[in-house]
Amino acid sequence: MIVIEASILSADFARLGEQARQAEAAGVDAIQVDVMDGSFVPVITFGAGVVRALRPLVSLPLDVHLMIVEPQRHLEAFAEAGANRLIVHQEACRHLHRVLQGIRELRIEAGVAINPATPLSVLEEVLDLTDLIQVMTVNPGWGGQPFLHSQLDKIRRLRRMLDERGLGTPISVDGGIDRTTAPLVVSAGATVLIAGSAIYNDRASVVENVGALRVSFAKSKIQSSKSKFEL
Ligand code: DX5
Repeated sequence: MIVIEASILSADFARLGEQARQAEAAGVDAIQVDVMDGSFVPVITFGAGVVRALRPLVSLPLDVHLMIVEPQRHLEAFAEAGANRLIVHQEACRHLHRVLQGIRELRIEAGVAINPATPLSVLEEVLDLTDLIQVMTVNPGWGGQPFLHSQLDKIRRLRRMLDERGLGTPISVDGGIDRTTAPLVVSAGATVLIAGSAIYNDRASVVENVGALRVSFAKSKIQSSKSKFEL
């Protein structure tokens, strides 16, 4: 099953609750909350207060992507605000193993995000503590950036690395995911698609955009299953 998460980074910040509800009504599987601190990435967005405000408005999982330095200082605040999963950047953690342990102790899911320049090897010693691996397909900081096709091979290698260890850990992809790139990442092994500007834009409604995204990779799923059948 392919999961679609609406990233509210491209939503109307003056109507975040309404836009999150629109994504839920449109059939997305989760909301991704992009937390940026202006240090790990150049932009500042929002903190645990926005998670707290959104929590009662949607029944979907709130997936909090912490693009911040020293995430270990904020884990409890986001968990108490209602986050279902906290995704930290490997590049922001001096002690990644301990940070992931800390998230698990809060009884919520732990995810690790890696930037385009970060090799898969940094994950090898923490796979047992990781509920999801997020491959950044842009350099984080803004919505609406072009997809980095160089990351497709990384997604394929990561899926192989997990399969060789008998791990079903889902791979999520974040950045430039739209109806053109969605089939590519699904064929490469991603099963969680984070989309912001492909869902929230002035070209079509949220419902239409989510629908178009879902249709876009349905074909590639059929093709990949067919190819297995032919083999
Ligand atoms: C990092 C953010 C964005 C966002 C998705 O910059 O994490 O990737 O979620 O942005 P789009 O889907 O507009 O590329």
